[in-house]
Amino acid sequence: MKTDTGQDVRLEDYRPTDFEIETVDLTFRLDPAQTRVTSRIALRRRSGTKADVPLVLDGDELNLVALKINDVAADNECFAATPSSLEIRDLPETEVFTLEIVTEIAPAENTKLMGLYRSNGVYCTQCEAEGFRRITYFLDRPDVLAVFTTCIEAPTNDAPLLLSNGNPGETGELGDGWHFAVWHDPHPKPSYLFALVAGDLAVVRDWFVTRSGKPVVLEIYVEHGKQIRANYAMDALKRAMSWDEERFGREYDLSVFMIVAVSDFNMGAMENKGLNIFNDKYVLADSDTATDADYANIEAIIAHEYFHNWTGNRITCRDWFQLCLKEGLTVYRDHEFSADMRSRPVKRIAEVRLLKAHQFPEDSGPLAHPVRPEHYSEINNFYTATVYEKGSEVVRMLATILGPTEFKAGLDLYFSRHDGDAATIEDFLKCFEDANQVKLTQFALWYRQAGTPVLTVSARFDGRARKLMLDIEQSAPATPGQPKKRPMHIPLRFGLIDADGAEIKTSDIEGIDVTGDVMHVKRRAHKIVISKVRKRPVISLNRSFSAPINIHFEQGTEDLFHLARFETDAYSRWQALNELALRGLIAATGAVRDDTDIVPDEALVSGIIASLEDGTLEPAMRAQAVLLPGEADIARELGNNIDPDAIFEARNGVLDIVAMTGADAFDKVADGFTPSGRYTPDAESAGKRALYLAALDYLSRISLPADALLPIFRSADNMTIMAGVLAILAHRFPETAAAETALAEFELRFRENPLVIDKWLQIQATIPGQATLARVKQLMGSNHFSIENPNRVRALIGSFSAGNPTGFNRADGAAFAFLAGLIIELDARNPQVAARILTSMRSWKSLEPVRQEKARTALVAISEQPSLSPDVRDITDRTLG
Ligand code: PHE
Ligand code: ZN
Repeated sequence: MKTDTGQDVRLEDYRPTDFEIETVDLTFRLDPAQTRVTSRIALRRRSGTKADVPLVLDGDELNLVALKINDVAADNECFAATPSSLEIRDLPETEVFTLEIVTEIAPAENTKLMGLYRSNGVYCTQCEAEGFRRITYFLDRPDVLAVFTTCIEAPTNDAPLLLSNGNPGETGELGDGWHFAVWHDPHPKPSYLFALVAGDLAVVRDWFVTRSGKPVVLEIYVEHGKQIRANYAMDALKRAMSWDEERFGREYDLSVFMIVAVSDFNMGAMENKGLNIFNDKYVLADSDTATDADYANIEAIIAHEYFHNWTGNRITCRDWFQLCLKEGLTVYRDHEFSADMRSRPVKRIAEVRLLKAHQFPEDSGPLAHPVRPEHYSEINNFYTATVYEKGSEVVRMLATILGPTEFKAGLDLYFSRHDGDAATIEDFLKCFEDANQVKLTQFALWYRQAGTPVLTVSARFDGRARKLMLDIEQSAPATPGQPKKRPMHIPLRFGLIDADGAEIKTSDIEGIDVTGDVMHVKRRAHKIVISKVRKRPVISLNRSFSAPINIHFEQGTEDLFHLARFETDAYSRWQALNELALRGLIAATGAVRDDTDIVPDEALVSGIIASLEDGTLEPAMRAQAVLLPGEADIARELGNNIDPDAIFEARNGVLDIVAMTGADAFDKVADGFTPSGRYTPDAESAGKRALYLAALDYLSRISLPADALLPIFRSADNMTIMAGVLAILAHRFPETAAAETALAEFELRFRENPLVIDKWLQIQATIPGQATLARVKQLMGSNHFSIENPNRVRALIGSFSAGNPTGFNRADGAAFAFLAGLIIELDARNPQVAARILTSMRSWKSLEPVRQEKARTALVAISEQPSLSPDVRDITDRTLG
């Protein structure tokens, strides 16, 4: 399987390697321009592998310096080395033999941030998915598990700290100001989990005793002076460790667990065995520099990477098609963790919002792919919302279908049966089947069929017969390579609510299997009869979003209002209100395009305000109620012929009316907010801040002008309020003196803190309207921006292209053309980040014709570049379709 040249790799072609690697002994002699890597690997020819089968190791931009076979310099005739492979013929006939491979690499020139690179003077590695082959020639695939020992040599001054996976071993001086350290990882692992860090960093140290009494040293490494900002991450780590013991029975398995925060990182973080490497954005926090959202992300990502120790590391993936085996399951685990740490319904709302904002559009556009893809040309492009978020939803559905005890039994079996394995989705599902004597054949389709399923529902109540008739039909849209879909097993939680708001118990249901409050939709069509229903009920479907689907159900507005008030499931109350709001916003968009007045339903407006005022709800819930669907939500619902300007205008029109009608209520919320002295990042306090900011946002439409917001911005004593008010100022009052003053003061205050400057860049990049493109270009020229740093690129360019519908989709296409140029430039440095940013064009075909044509022109311009990376080539080709 070759993957670095952009050719198609197929799941069906999987076969095990001819050779196994038992041990790997690595020695790194670190130098920014010329690091020498000596890799001694002990290989074993698999039984059945013929003696004349050559060994082909993967490489990527490598330079072979020396090769020994069984400690003897290899003959030139018996091997062929290129930057991307090392092929060895004439191998010893013995079953076991060793290779010593010496390569030379230049970490300081590694701009792709894959393999060994330098970030702010610190050596670090990123090996998932195929970065290890940029360090040394290897069987760089997840089903080759070996025991690693790593010796790092470096100048003591430059790199006093030398870290790798596993447990620390010997250390010492080498003379000439050099020193070394040895690390040994007893757990066999694939190369993508290898890590090395060397540099001058500060450490925050703590400890944890596992429930079986083993002490674990916990270390978080950060740049000097930033130790205090790692305290929250440490706290989250300890909570994650005990939670995983209690909830899933998983204990940590080494004597030390280390996290290193680096400032140049392609993704969020990486679960390398015993040595997680993090984008510093997901480690560093204090109240002056991090928002509530940052804290929540840190908690979730620290937990996510820690949880990978079992779901990913102890049990890894057989091949990269099985990526969701570790990612979907681990996201599910981190979601559950956050739900337990915070408010479960509020967390569920956030998950669904995220899923709909990222995964649904992916699933309905040219980049749609199954949770477990069947082919790829560039694996880096499959770290997607589908693999992660839908993958998590699939695990959640499994838990819903089986029930908690049965789900746990299956997962326990998975942990015991596959510990130490490189497993597949089939292996995973088989554990749930075997533990519970069930068949999951149909359920498995969730992993194979792309596209968001649609349930079309109609209901009829026969009062005389006391019967409720439900017709349910499922379908799934065509997706690339999959024109036709088979019916899936959709677990649909439901409830019936009577006129007084009480839950109606149902016992007599025909036409579908039901367990508890879950209907098991399995056929293409179900005719369901629910008997013994005395009065017309209001039907609540897909409670707590039990399945990641779209529902087409012509449910009357009164019924939705009824659910918004009375549903017993808090998530579903929000869902009903949100659905109503979406309908109102769609209607308003129609009005704008027809040039008629925007007249939102009075009941909708008062429903929103009633939720805002509902003192029985937690503040975070009240904030969610008034946070109406965004422009992207409206666009997704409309599906085609999108005019982002019309959506923007319509949404503003509705928000203005809500603000005017609810002025008193918003005032009351804003006045009642007391910045309660010392900032704490807990969910409850965060909810109060979210509610306050939501109120300010509405008030800024009526009674709170820019000049009144400026003092609020200035007196903010934490970053959540400060950045929140700055965003309101900049977005609602662009180019006013107050907004520009606030931006300038913010910059002045935080100019030494790049993570905070990212917020400043992002707020400006998402100012609605035509003019923002010029601002983005100007900001690119400021000394705060650097195309070399992924966080800066994402904050400015990523949020402009993915989070600014009116600015990015300018009707003249200027922003598309700008992005095309930038992608080409970035691609030459860092293909992975370039490809990721480019996915913001995935919904171009749903734009109205004029914009669509401009978008196509930009995509074609990229496509015509002769030397695109496989990453950008793949996204461009698939996006163009
Ligand atoms: N495996 C990482 C995670 O989700 C993500 C990642 C993928 C990081 C590839 C870097 C490169 O936890
Ligand atoms: Zn992960």
